Amino acid sequence: MSYFVTGTDTNVGKTLISCALLHGFADKGKRVVGMKPVAAGCMADEIHDDVKQLRAASNVLASYGQVNPYCFAPAAAPHLAAQFAGVSINLERIVESFSELAAQADEVIVEGAGGLLVPLNAAQDSSDLMRELGLPVILVVGVRLGCLNHALLTVEAIAARGLTLAGWVANVVDADMAMLDQNIAALEQRINAPLLGVVPFQLQPDALDVAKLLNLHLLEPIKPHD
Ligand SMILES: Nc1ncnc2c1ncn2[C@@H]1O[C@H](COP(=O)(O)OP(=O)(O)O)[C@@H](O)[C@H]1O
Ligand SMILES: [Mg+2]
Repeated sequence: MSYFVTGTDTNVGKTLISCALLHGFADKGKRVVGMKPVAAGCMADEIHDDVKQLRAASNVLASYGQVNPYCFAPAAAPHLAAQFAGVSINLERIVESFSELAAQADEVIVEGAGGLLVPLNAAQDSSDLMRELGLPVILVVGVRLGCLNHALLTVEAIAARGLTLAGWVANVVDADMAMLDQNIAALEQRINAPLLGVVPFQLQPDALDVAKLLNLHLLEPIKPHD
């Protein structure tokens, strides 16, 4: 089973958690590969940092073109960065690359750009890509002031679009977050999907260590009784 990792915002730990998921599934003996369909903020001939991190956490070494079909120089919203490059992002091309990756691995972890409704072209956004790929969603909540609203809006939009929320991760990105436990409890009460783990603020977060904080068995489909 593959997953699409989205976040409450940009810079909330999607790459860190995607890499931790890759390590966690690899530890279970799975062939895993990360995918970053659309990356922005990368100079010509350079590999985007997210792509480097995802590849380092993968045990299937796929081509850059498959892992990252679209890469743009301006650190801007994907559809604007694409427009600047004279390109329109084509979801079918992303689905093709995903299929090639899925043929090589047991699990593909797809990291979205920004959050759920980030536009990808004139007519489609990230949630359309999740639907086209047919993937359940893992939501990374960047725990800081304001995250309750962002998280609950995202959860509501996932449901409204008929997507499946497989689980969520509380990733603490504010070292001084007040009432941390109460905030996480407030989300647990309101999100009808498993909390896969709480990742504390760390000065130098390491995806291998973070993997140990995620309960991947909560993602496993419930087996019917015999
Ligand atoms: N739990 C954490 N504690 C401290 N820093 C974090 C944590 N999670 C992420 N970060 C840092 O925040 C920045 C953004 O994380 P990243 O995974 O790149 O987010 P995104 O992919 O959502 O943009 C990185 O510098 C990362 O090391
Ligand atoms: Mg990222």
